[in-house]
Amino acid sequence: MSIRTATLNGVATIEIARPEKKNALTVAMYQAMAEALEAAAADKAVRAVLITGQPGIFTSGNDIEDFMQRPPGQGGSNGAESPVFRFMRALLACDKPVVAAVTGAAIGIGTTMLLHCDFVYVSDEARLAMPFVSLGLVPEFASSLLLPPLLGQAKAAEKLLLGEPFTPEQAVDAGIANAVLPATEVVNHARRVAERFNALPPGAVQGAKKLLRGPQREAILATIKTEGELFAQRLRSPEAMEAFQAFFQKRKPDFSQF
Ligand code: COA
Repeated sequence: MSIRTATLNGVATIEIARPEKKNALTVAMYQAMAEALEAAAADKAVRAVLITGQPGIFTSGNDIEDFMQRPPGQGGSNGAESPVFRFMRALLACDKPVVAAVTGAAIGIGTTMLLHCDFVYVSDEARLAMPFVSLGLVPEFASSLLLPPLLGQAKAAEKLLLGEPFTPEQAVDAGIANAVLPATEVVNHARRVAERFNALPPGAVQGAKKLLRGPQREAILATIKTEGELFAQRLRSPEAMEAFQAFFQKRKPDFSQF
């Protein structure tokens, strides 16, 4: 199992732990993360959730082998029933504060999920990137809706069309992250923030979270659906196949024939 979970002192921790593959997320890992979030939401003893990775890597995003062998949307659906959707639905629905400790690179869904967390602390060694287009894909889980108001249309195009990375400082400036911390301190800092909810009234916290996220909720869900349909088509495209094969063959993809 490459997801470790533990509940301690009011905080349910979800740790991505597959360092040999740079914490790439498989179908089974999304499933485990979804179950952990759903259990945390249902457990009265849990006041906040902490999502973290390994030293130097938060996650390298979706497992590219899985993208090829087990893409969400198998069988002609748009993938809405797949574990990745279940995980992201659980993250969006979680009425308790979710704190992310970005211990290193956060790629693809690694950055997308941060847009749906309440607090984000980034290691000074981290890089965030959403290289969907370079992989023949399109943005996912409402990143195409949420990034432009944060960055401005032109800067959002750099991130979503060119896949240019964010430095930790840029993530803070954009309001995607709260603070940059030394790599050795980021998890402890994020945990201390999560533990602060032990001293706060849970009903008020949940009510306030709902209000903060409420106005955009319908637009976010509608965008996730639109993006998901296109993403599922793109996963089967010859462009994506070329990008995935190039990744495993450790070469630059060649899109000149398209
Ligand atoms: N899916 C599947 N395997 C992955 C992976 C992914 N997303 N990311 C890394 N791996 C594997 C590599 O294939 C390699 O496996 P191997 O040891 O069997 O060859 C191993 O993890 C180590 O990765 P490597 O690329 O050698 O590490 P690095 O330190 O040079 O680079 C990253 C780290 C994260 C920058 C790089 O692995 C990367 O760009 N990964 C893909 C990111 C991506 O495009 N994700 C999808 C977004 S939608």
